[in-house]
Amino acid sequence: MKSKILLVDDDALSMETLSSILDGQNYEISSADNGATALRMADQLQPDLILLDVMMPGMDGFEVCRRIRSTPKLAEVPIIILTALDDRSSRLLGIESGADDFLSKPVDRQELRLRVGTITRLNRYRTLLTQRDDLRLMAERVVNAQEEERIRLSRELHDDLGQVLIAHTLSLRNLQSELPMRPELLIEKLDVLIADTSQTIKKMHALAQDLRPTLLDTLGLRSALETYSREFSLRTGLPVVFEAAATLPEMSAVYSITLYRILQEALTNVIKHSSASQVWVELTIEDVCIILTIQDNGVGFATDGDKSRNGLGILGLKERLMIVDGDLEIRSSATNGTILTARLPLENIHPLREET
Ligand SMILES: Nc1ncnc2c1ncn2[C@@H]1O[C@H](COP(=O)(O)OP(=O)(O)OP(=O)(O)O)[C@@H](O)[C@H]1O
Ligand SMILES: [Mg+2]
Repeated sequence: MKSKILLVDDDALSMETLSSILDGQNYEISSADNGATALRMADQLQPDLILLDVMMPGMDGFEVCRRIRSTPKLAEVPIIILTALDDRSSRLLGIESGADDFLSKPVDRQELRLRVGTITRLNRYRTLLTQRDDLRLMAERVVNAQEEERIRLSRELHDDLGQVLIAHTLSLRNLQSELPMRPELLIEKLDVLIADTSQTIKKMHALAQDLRPTLLDTLGLRSALETYSREFSLRTGLPVVFEAAATLPEMSAVYSITLYRILQEALTNVIKHSSASQVWVELTIEDVCIILTIQDNGVGFATDGDKSRNGLGILGLKERLMIVDGDLEIRSSATNGTILTARLPLENIHPLREET
């Protein structure tokens, strides 16, 4: 990946010189000719290095530097200040405003290349360390989530299935001790036991399905999502319109399970939070992305507010998507409801095949 460098200089000629020196060095170079534009571009680009001229009309380089340092998102970006003033006081001012290094104008070609090379390498290293920390945090979350899931399962096995089976055994013992009895009475008691058993089988099936949606293996992604939507609709009484591309590329299990879990969480959120009267689910292929959209016509929510930070559902989806290099977009308003869009890049795309 190329390192991104933002050049900030009001003098077009000086800017051209800087670009030409760094040209062909595997950098992605952007430029701004004043302080305000520089701040805006820095925010958008998140550069790996900013080369900043001091003498600019309006906001000077020191002020730009100070503002960048006080913006949390940008506070760590390395900044080299370019100054024609090779005096001590301007260097002190530079240090005070948060610059990491200085270069005197006119710049020495070799010195500029070396300094920029060193700083961008160091910044890459820092970024890698941050990414490693993020990964560690994510792994911790995954382990915690697994642990919680195990607790839930063990509780369900113990409290629910366990209790039913104990009750069964007791009923069978009672039956045994009451034998012989009238055949009609025996049939009646056996009927109750059979009904209980099929209830238990249903619960076990639901639990197993929750653990690993076997529908994905037996039906394929499209049909599994469609079946899930249909069953959700039957269970909740909320109409779901399902549409999917006729052909889907073959994809690894991690993609299909991610899409399945997104649908599960999104539909659960719709029923829990939205008071919607209609849901639309769409699965499409665009370029090299598979896109799952779940839209409702409910009450919506503030996506940047505190509310969205309370639950773990959406956070969990973002983490799942991070693993497959995908992203999640949520657009929500009180008038148009909520649209959740998940995009998964299909890099190792295989030849298209018809799904049965
Ligand atoms: N379709 C929706 N309509 C309205 N509000 C929604 C919708 N989806 C999510 N929200 C809001 O976003 C919040 C965060 O959702 P998220 O799934 O992360 O957590 P949760 O559903 O509250 O809890 P959890 O998923 O951990 O059981 C919800 O509490 C709700 O306020
Ligand atoms: Mg949720």
